[in-house]
Amino acid sequence: MKIFVDTANREEIEQAASWGILDGVTTNPTLLAKEMERTRKGYRQILEEICQIVNGPVNGEVVSTDSKGMVREGLELAEIHENMVVKVPMIPEGLKAVKRLRQEGIRTNVTLAFSPSQALLAAKAGATYVSPFVGRIDDKSGDGMEVVSQIVQIFQNYNLPTEVLAASLRHPVHVVEAALLGADIATMPFSVLQKLFEHPLTDIGLKQFLADWEKTKQKIVG
Ligand code: G3P
Repeated sequence: MKIFVDTANREEIEQAASWGILDGVTTNPTLLAKEMERTRKGYRQILEEICQIVNGPVNGEVVSTDSKGMVREGLELAEIHENMVVKVPMIPEGLKAVKRLRQEGIRTNVTLAFSPSQALLAAKAGATYVSPFVGRIDDKSGDGMEVVSQIVQIFQNYNLPTEVLAASLRHPVHVVEAALLGADIATMPFSVLQKLFEHPLTDIGLKQFLADWEKTKQKIVG
């Protein structure tokens, strides 16, 4: 499973990339607006900088709600860097835009997907990725992971090439469940990515190993 970080924060992305486990980045208008406010940079500069850091897909989202506007914005976003993927909302106009952008050779991610039927339509329109929002489904007393499971199953049944990008993941168990279900990608906030590393026994074990070695007064390198 590929791991994406769901942020537009440059420092977080640099740190995640330095760990050697980062496959891509997702942003959305909320995340970009926050970063524009924090850094006083324009959206284009922020996305350009992210593309310099990450050797993989970098998602930027359109903000028009008509297909013509979405296509115009998608072409503009795609022009930033070859790694750019255009996020498009899961509405009829969005799927029209997906089809058009695909004809231009631009990769798309259909976002704000909350049901298997929406994901099926996104795949039929030719989306490269579809993003079920697991945490937001759970927030409404639904079962976000069941939705991911059904999408994975449907795509397998028909050999659909669209990748399942599990989004709105809130904690490490979500990430593990997405991996067990065969989601192609999990995107998560930086804080969740950090938590994937953590285990108290790792910390206790390392402390003990270092203390025991310290007693030997030996060095491994000169
Ligand atoms: O990638 C989708 C994500 O940004 C939504 O997450 O936590 O706002 O539901 P959340």
